[in-house]
Amino acid sequence: MIQKRRIGIIGTGHVGVAAAYALFLRGLASEIVLIDKHSERAEGEAMDLTHGRAFGESVEVISGGYQDLGEAQVVVVTAGVAQQPGETRLNLLNRNAGVFRDIVAQLDRYAPRAVLVIASNPVDILTHITQQLSHRDPNLVIGTGTLLDTARFRTLLGRHYCVDARSVHAYIVGEHGDSEVPLWSSASIGGVRLVDNAVMGITFDETRMRRLFEEVRDAAYAIIARKGYTNTAIGVAIVRLVAAILDDQRSVLPVSRRLKGEYGLADICLSMPSVIGRRGVEGAVLPPLAATELEGLERSAAVIGQELGGIEL
Ligand SMILES: NC(=O)c1ccc[n+]([C@@H]2O[C@H](COP(=O)([O-])OP(=O)(O)OC[C@H]3O[C@@H](n4cnc5c(N)ncnc54)[C@H](O)[C@@H]3O)[C@@H](O)[C@H]2O)c1
Repeated sequence: MIQKRRIGIIGTGHVGVAAAYALFLRGLASEIVLIDKHSERAEGEAMDLTHGRAFGESVEVISGGYQDLGEAQVVVVTAGVAQQPGETRLNLLNRNAGVFRDIVAQLDRYAPRAVLVIASNPVDILTHITQQLSHRDPNLVIGTGTLLDTARFRTLLGRHYCVDARSVHAYIVGEHGDSEVPLWSSASIGGVRLVDNAVMGITFDETRMRRLFEEVRDAAYAIIARKGYTNTAIGVAIVRLVAAILDDQRSVLPVSRRLKGEYGLADICLSMPSVIGRRGVEGAVLPPLAATELEGLERSAAVIGQELGGIEL
């Protein structure tokens, strides 16, 4: 029997719906299950998306409860309280931690083998909490982390160097938030490092590049100030991650995972390039870091560690 490719989405607000829509258009899954504490919202979204089947992929979209997640290969968690204008991601912590306690218990009961993709903020902390609360292997719990920030970084660098963003190899690591770290020392295009001033003869202008990174780091604030939330690019980023899992691609993506002594850091979830496949996080890639990058990563870990210390599970 051909197994259904079932994906669950918990939380059908801006991010959950953007992810569902992007998944629907890609036709990655045969069934998408939408779950929200406001069941009517999930129901309405499922009805709406289903009507696209006449023109799109043959994807069944249903709304329901956790019991409908049986055999789901991936469950994306976007439930929670959204970031308010000017609010840091870490401020969201306590509001979202409680929500997760209930969700993880349900997921362990009804989808114990699924890979969980956590997108809710603060994503590094909620990934850590989920790993702590869930009975599943921690490698099956992945935070979207700096996947979106890395996409923004590559997009702006692609624009700066006038090349396809997909030809830019550059990572943002650490916290998905204010302390995130750009890895300039390994950023490259066509095998040529940007810092060597040799990419198509373009000089690496430190001031300009610092501003470019600030634009990446502050992008969520800028978008939220204008439209009230961010959702479409994270929806696309979620689909990239889900595709790597479902198709067992072993893609190297910067996602939030638990460090186990790498760079002298342990027992903290933050983003580093990771090998992603059917069994979730299947490997770690450890780029060499310049001294300033290592300092930045340590600062990022300290920020996350401090917040984690205040949570009672
Ligand atoms: N990781 C990223 O890069 C990234 C990017 C954008 C937003 N986010 C985060 O994603 C989360 C969702 O953002 P949004 O704009 O979609 O918010 P939203 O308020 O539009 O949607 C949240 C949804 O979660 C639902 N919900 C709340 N508690 C629930 C529960 N216990 N069970 C099921 N559903 C529940 C709400 O009813 C709502 O529909 C936020 O934490 C936001 O900060 C992350």
